Amino acid sequence: MKKIYLVAPHKLGTIAPEVYGHFSEHIGGVFYDGLWVGRDSSIPNIRGFRKDLIEKLQKIKPPVLRWPGGCYAEVYNWRDGIGEDRPTRINWWTRNDHRYEPNTVGTHEFLDLCELIGAKAYFATNVTSSSPMEARNWMDYCLSPEGTTTLAKERARNGHPQPFDIPYWGVGNENWGGGGNMRPEYYADEYRRYATLMNNAFPEARLFACGTNFEDFNWTQKVIASLQSQKSYTHGFAMHYYCGFAGDPVGFTEEEWDRQLRQAKGIEYAIKRNWNIISGFNAQDKIKLVVDEWGCWHPDGSGPSKGYNLFEQQSTLRDAMVAALSLNIFNNHCEKIAMTNVAQLVNNLHALFLAGGEHCIVTPTYHVYDMFKEHQGAEAIETVVTDNSDFAESLSVSASVKDGQLLVTVGNLSCRHDAAFTLEQVGMKLASQGSAVLLHDDDLHAHNTFDEPERVKTVSYTFDSAQPVTIPKGAVLALRIPFAE
Ligand code: AHR
Repeated sequence: MKKIYLVAPHKLGTIAPEVYGHFSEHIGGVFYDGLWVGRDSSIPNIRGFRKDLIEKLQKIKPPVLRWPGGCYAEVYNWRDGIGEDRPTRINWWTRNDHRYEPNTVGTHEFLDLCELIGAKAYFATNVTSSSPMEARNWMDYCLSPEGTTTLAKERARNGHPQPFDIPYWGVGNENWGGGGNMRPEYYADEYRRYATLMNNAFPEARLFACGTNFEDFNWTQKVIASLQSQKSYTHGFAMHYYCGFAGDPVGFTEEEWDRQLRQAKGIEYAIKRNWNIISGFNAQDKIKLVVDEWGCWHPDGSGPSKGYNLFEQQSTLRDAMVAALSLNIFNNHCEKIAMTNVAQLVNNLHALFLAGGEHCIVTPTYHVYDMFKEHQGAEAIETVVTDNSDFAESLSVSASVKDGQLLVTVGNLSCRHDAAFTLEQVGMKLASQGSAVLLHDDDLHAHNTFDEPERVKTVSYTFDSAQPVTIPKGAVLALRIPFAE
């Protein structure tokens, strides 16, 4: 029997709510027929956004939403998405289906979505095909006080006299790849041009520099080295980490289950190495990690649109386990991480929702976000698990304390065996009864479909915190226990 030591005196830091953030790009079916159905649609909507999805999203308390890309941000002209008579543009990111970008959802609509779901906005600016002045103009349009600049007056004419609240601004996206195939030295110089203008006009904006892909630490080294004079207003280094191509998204083998989880676990190494480099330049108090794209990336075509929506994929308990493992890692490294954004929200890679026409269902990953949501803003504490060195038979664990309660989230990474553990309290006294939420299915390939929307769901029960707890193979468990009176 394993033991999970909950070491209350060893606080790891506060888990920024933004660690539980999301990403929505103009790509495939994320917006059109996903989030957005249109104001005149017969599908129930709130100001054009799919009502069912909005309500489910509100439930998991999304703290932040990134937009408009991804790679799409690098071809986006913000002026296309404001006012009347919006132009239709080529959108390479819907290339599979020859759809074009109508710009129906632009700045005002996206910020309306953020308001509806209670999320902060995170905008990605275009470095590849635009200019620092255009980035600053977009900020001017969005952020300048009412009645001041010409762009603020244009914003008012478009229906929003008060400035919008957009705390986070990314400078480019994947500039080592789809964002211009830049060398790190070149990107760093571009970042300096952009950040200087953006910070100069709007010093309160939190700017993020483009970070690494996977384990390209040469990028980190060169970019961070060059940002010494920008350190005071660079708040994030936006790394990306995808895992996947470990077999069929729904028909994987046991060996592929293990392989996918090992790849997912690799994000911890990328976090530590990037952090070591940032700390080596003594920038750790200024520049935090922002993992603004992460998740499973499977071969195309397994989603309900059968490949029509670019990158849309089905999600099983394996994807839910990757989410639980990753979120536990983020919690355990919370002092390094300012934000993460799982890619992407709807009809895409590691999605929480699949939608189309009148259908809108949640994936197993949605349940993980629901089960973990009380980690947001909580104090993470150290956990130590005994007998946990065999990765394929290990437990992934994190714990946090908030509002007089402890939340422990556990993933049983084994696809072969159930596990049992006890909770060992170090430096705290918990009540004898707690509440448990379990995400589990006997078939680890189980997933939700439009025909069977609730095949994978959670069950809730109470449990005795002093007794051994059993967790089935491939299951995710959230335990909430109040402190003893
Ligand atoms: O999330 C899909 C794509 O993956 C994004 O546009 C890009 O940033 C990444 O390569």
